[in-house]
Amino acid sequence: MREAWIIDAARSPRGRGKPGKGAMTHLHPQRCLAQVLNGLKDKSGLDPADVEDVVMGCGSGNGDHAHDIARMSVLDAGWPMSVSGVTLHRFCGSGQQSVNFAAMGVMSGQQECVVAGGVEFMSRPAPLHAKGFTANNEHLFARYPMVPQGISADLIATVEGFSREDCDRLAVSSQQRAAEAIAEGRFKDALVPIHNDDGTLALDRDEHPRPGTTIEDLSGLQPSFEQMGQTIQEGYDETFDDMCKRVYPDIDKVNHVHHAGNSSGVVDGASAMLVTSPEFAQSRGFKPRARIVAAATAGTEPVIMLTAPAPAAKNVLKKAGMSKSDIDLWEVNEAFASVVLKFVRELDVDHDVLNVNGGAMALGHPIGATGAMLIQTALDELERRDQSTALIAMCTGGGMGTASIIERI
Ligand SMILES: CC(C)(COP(=O)(O)OP(=O)(O)OC[C@H]1O[C@@H](n2cnc3c(N)ncnc32)[C@H](O)[C@@H]1OP(=O)(O)O)[C@@H](O)C(=O)NCCC(=O)NCCS
Repeated sequence: MREAWIIDAARSPRGRGKPGKGAMTHLHPQRCLAQVLNGLKDKSGLDPADVEDVVMGCGSGNGDHAHDIARMSVLDAGWPMSVSGVTLHRFCGSGQQSVNFAAMGVMSGQQECVVAGGVEFMSRPAPLHAKGFTANNEHLFARYPMVPQGISADLIATVEGFSREDCDRLAVSSQQRAAEAIAEGRFKDALVPIHNDDGTLALDRDEHPRPGTTIEDLSGLQPSFEQMGQTIQEGYDETFDDMCKRVYPDIDKVNHVHHAGNSSGVVDGASAMLVTSPEFAQSRGFKPRARIVAAATAGTEPVIMLTAPAPAAKNVLKKAGMSKSDIDLWEVNEAFASVVLKFVRELDVDHDVLNVNGGAMALGHPIGATGAMLIQTALDELERRDQSTALIAMCTGGGMGTASIIERI
């Protein structure tokens, strides 16, 4: 099988994702992704006419994200109408899946030049059209009462015995690492400044981090999902906590440890990565930055939902014929603190080489866009440290995980 090469990548800043509170919330998500596509074009020297397909992840899928946001953004970017676009949904793993599918298309010989990434403007939630993860399917809900993700994250902490303090310590470390990375300008090359329609600057830096966050600051925050878990919500006849206890009868109660500081931030953003075959890269004079060695997914129990990054990581290591010791850096999406703690426990990875520039608790997690951002962050950091190999893993809704291994060329 031939190789799939990463030529370059670009991302928007992550803007705060509350209507009216973030610097990009007034922009249409297509406008932001269009600017990231053009940022990638300018940075890499890509001729958009060469692009065979643009694969974009998006976890929302309706409202302003509706229909095929990849194709609409390609057109908004002014790229030739010959460039097609496809949008895919694997919840929080959508952006990573886009890159993995692009790699598969290239490795299989069906494609030469693909742009992959994702977009999510969490400030623009889609109108609710379906109840919960099971999308109004009562039969499936009876089999798997999939609770909201914050409650699944609390359930992981409960089952695994992670305390609120364990989670808060990880969140403080995420903030410290992100603050240091930003102060040293480590994200500078990755960022495409986003402009308003009148040409003025909207945002050129990540807006969510709170540098200087301490354990004491976090200890004062109220759990975000306790009331939701303990009260019967509209449309249900049982509390979410009782559903958890039904599926996990060994627990006495759900320990609600997650709050605004140790959960991933709600933000807006977009990402794009250029993936090509070696032959195509050579024909255009592109210098490759890395190869995508392997890609994998995994599925685990869907009520606890967020435990599949470790199995996905094991699967991708196996596919690559590698072991843990072959990996220099790890990126595991900080959807919630307990997700990362569970990953570390299962794979026994040293925290010193995991999420070294902070993660989504500090920087935010623009659902569909995050995967390509994490791959880009890992690649930039490998280059900065002059190291070789990174493994990137994420949890997703529905009890799935995505994983990729990249290796510098
Ligand atoms: C947990 C969650 C519900 C919290 O939402 P929220 O309360 O609106 O969170 P905010 O970020 O606005 O923070 C609320 C307040 O907490 C405090 N706070 C947040 N982070 C803090 C920190 N690091 N240090 C100190 N205080 C902090 C602040 O007072 C803040 O208010 P302010 O913005 O006016 O200063 C939300 O972040 C969430 O749902 N995250 C997960 C998203 C998700 O599910 N993604 C998919 C994952 S798989």
